[in-house]
Amino acid sequence: MTPVVFVLNGPNLNLLGLREPAIYGSATLADLEQIARRAGERLGLAVDFRQSNHEGDLVDWIQEARTKALGLVINAGALTHTSVAIHDAVRAVGLPTIEVHLSNVHARESFRHHSYLSPVAAGVIVGLGADGYDFALQALARRLLPRDPSSEPITA
Ligand code: DQA
Repeated sequence: MTPVVFVLNGPNLNLLGLREPAIYGSATLADLEQIARRAGERLGLAVDFRQSNHEGDLVDWIQEARTKALGLVINAGALTHTSVAIHDAVRAVGLPTIEVHLSNVHARESFRHHSYLSPVAAGVIVGLGADGYDFALQALARRLLPRDPSSEPITA
């Protein structure tokens, strides 16, 4: 069975394409979904892609992932910087979670420098735009799928 991963998106990400394109780029949420699905197909992961403007929906979906998914990719939008509830939900379910931000939050306003999600994430990808979703799924695939030993890097 193909492992399922949830790709969850928070507030205002439904406005991508229209919203501050100089910061977030021209890709729409539908474009991100397509990037994530294609990455999933290539990597052998079934991607369940969702967006909500409501904190409770994100908490419910993270809890739902406990029994339905093996990993999470989360761009919590502004809730990244405010939500103890999302931190607690990720901690509670214990699934490998990659935090993604399209923009480089560290090069922006100081209120974006703190993330409640980062301490409970396996890794964080910031500032790489839509490609960040592809890279996040690669990181999850490496954790979740058996590796082909012939593709291991030669270090000796
Ligand atoms: C964001 C960064 C957040 O600070 C912001 O509130 C967003 C989008 C990003 O993807 O760059 O909504 O998560």
